[in-house]
Amino acid sequence: PRKIIIDTDPGQDDAVAILLALASPELDVLGIVAVAGNVPLALTERNARRIVELAGFPEVPVHAGAVRPLVRPPITAEHVHGQTGLDGVDLPEPDVPLHPKPGIDFIVETLLAADSGEVTLCTLGPLTDVALALNRAPEIAPRIREIVMMGGAYFEVGNITPTAEFNVYVDPEAADVVLRSGVPITMLPLDVTHRALATPERLARFRALGNRCGAAVAGMLGFSERFDREKYASPGAPIHDPNVIAWLLAPELYEGRRINVAVECASPLTLGMTVADYWRVTGRPANALFLRGVDDAGFFDLLVERLARLP
Ligand code: BDR
Ligand code: CA
Repeated sequence: PRKIIIDTDPGQDDAVAILLALASPELDVLGIVAVAGNVPLALTERNARRIVELAGFPEVPVHAGAVRPLVRPPITAEHVHGQTGLDGVDLPEPDVPLHPKPGIDFIVETLLAADSGEVTLCTLGPLTDVALALNRAPEIAPRIREIVMMGGAYFEVGNITPTAEFNVYVDPEAADVVLRSGVPITMLPLDVTHRALATPERLARFRALGNRCGAAVAGMLGFSERFDREKYASPGAPIHDPNVIAWLLAPELYEGRRINVAVECASPLTLGMTVADYWRVTGRPANALFLRGVDDAGFFDLLVERLARLP
């Protein structure tokens, strides 16, 4: 199986991505690193522990990553995810403790101990932890197989400001470090995730699985679904982060281009904008596979099929 580290800020859609990864024998989840993002670190690391327990994988270690972005004050998204970050489901306090090794140490040490090109980093939140690891130990860069990240946008532009996607906006300097690192990158931007909508019919499929994970996913995604329906009259809420895992499992569901992507780190008006050279007009070398399309029916079939394998 492909070895991955998941760096995440759960977050309902992060939680579903973790469940999808744990349910998939093609992937070996070496560990989970929680980062400050949707809610503060104390909640994201606790939520990550609740999810590994829910999935029946308490042995997967959960580490605490960065408590705040590289240089900016934290920004959270309780307006989307609720006060706990996982509103919509009532999960017990986790028994599994936080792993004592700090998340950045875990990332660096795991990459140095593994064969070069063996470990993939999956990022579902702000890129703070990966940037800190790359800054501390630049020798890990050529050892990373790939960074697969949910973040950014091109045609879909922004969701936290008119021009910025949340994960990049929260820590644009970290995204900049990652995009300049030379590590192979695959980006799952809003252009993809805004096509994967959790409609009431799809939520009913998760509920109909009859297992506790299916019920939890229906509850969590139902919480975000209400937000989008009320605010935007949308048929369902976008399922962002599970696309990172689905891409690893079934890349044929996605299409995109190898292009240059840069991040705006200065302008107050467009801070955190991902400037994607989709038409290759700049001459800047490609640094990312920027995905733009998804077979959303295929994505949901995969999710349902995998969640059925969990308790
Ligand atoms: C991203 O922001 C978070 O709120 C979601 O979990 C996702 O990672 C979407 O912009
Ligand atoms: Ca997230």
